[in-house]
Amino acid sequence: MNIIILYCRAGFEGECALEIQEQASVIGVFGYCKTNKGQGFVEFVLNDSKDAKKVFKQVQLSDLIFARQWARVSEPLANLSREDRVQPIIDFLLAGDKKVRGLVTVDCPDSEGAAQLKTFVRKFTSPIAKALKQNGLLTPKADPDLDLLCLFFSDFDKVYIGEIDKDNRSPNHLGIPRLKFPKDAPSRSTLKLEEAWRTFFHPDEWYDQLGGHKKAVDLGACPGGWTWQLVNQGMDVFAVDHGPMNEALMASGHVTHVLEDGFVYKPPKKVDWMVCDIVDKPKRVTAMVIDWLVSGQCNRTVFNFKLPMKKRYQEVMECLQLIEEALTKNGMSSRIQAKHLYHDREEITCFIQVI
Ligand SMILES: C[S@@+](CC[C@H](N)C(=O)[O-])C[C@H]1O[C@@H](n2cnc3c(N)ncnc32)[C@H](O)[C@@H]1O
Repeated sequence: MNIIILYCRAGFEGECALEIQEQASVIGVFGYCKTNKGQGFVEFVLNDSKDAKKVFKQVQLSDLIFARQWARVSEPLANLSREDRVQPIIDFLLAGDKKVRGLVTVDCPDSEGAAQLKTFVRKFTSPIAKALKQNGLLTPKADPDLDLLCLFFSDFDKVYIGEIDKDNRSPNHLGIPRLKFPKDAPSRSTLKLEEAWRTFFHPDEWYDQLGGHKKAVDLGACPGGWTWQLVNQGMDVFAVDHGPMNEALMASGHVTHVLEDGFVYKPPKKVDWMVCDIVDKPKRVTAMVIDWLVSGQCNRTVFNFKLPMKKRYQEVMECLQLIEEALTKNGMSSRIQAKHLYHDREEITCFIQVI
């Protein structure tokens, strides 16, 4: 298993490839990437399976911005017949290390036009799981203490066979969280903030981060999807935007609408959270975030970097570095995380906490 498959949003394969090559080189692992724009995944090809294992041991998926999920796999089985895809997979595994896995995940890229492939992988899961169990390749009951068997169909007749590391993976199928749109939320953007929290926080820290009647500022708040999430966690919110806020949300009594410029506004007192969904230049957002954190106006923030047309990866890295340097220079320890979320399109979402 000398190939690492990284799942990403279609169109961001270049960024995903640059990032994994850079991260792997830091730990002395060098390989090359095979990508096709729009295919929704990257193949990172290494010398041998030891290198692939080393990457999984020393690089955390949570530290990668552009990858949603990843698996270490072998060269793909191609030209699978539509009549029987099960037997060649069983034969391949029996001829290999015969490792018993705790669960099987049948995956495919999240690319445009892959709707039928997605339907196929969903339907294929049950028959392949049954055959795997019959051949002693899968435990009778799901076992979370074992690595997952991964079957990644890049097409109907081509499958990469390998494994997903039990300790270094997304808990979600294809790395995509299934979030339900809250019926009272004023905009679909609300899911972005919920996904950010679910991505960046361990369930055990949920209350520390969000509970206890915290105070928040939401910059670029209208119509109120993010504010709704903050209020839903019991926070009082200053919602800053010249636009109109959702009336039902305002009627909750937990929101103060401030008609000011989000890049200029400062709260009357220090708050726990500042969130910002204003679409602007990443460097402008960076300067604003540094100002809030260094001056102690908040100690947690979630915000977006709208990705530029060119050099998207470089721009993101530069901005994150500027923030890290500014905090370090001011003697502040911090936790910095960034992810290209499922609900993000041309932007990435960042979380920073001053510790
Ligand atoms: C993507 S929308 C925000 C959606 C919001 N987060 C939600 O969940 O409903 C961006 C908002 O930023 C506001 N905006 C743009 N520039 C701003 C600025 N300088 N100050 C305050 N708000 C700004 C816009 O009026 C717009 O409502």
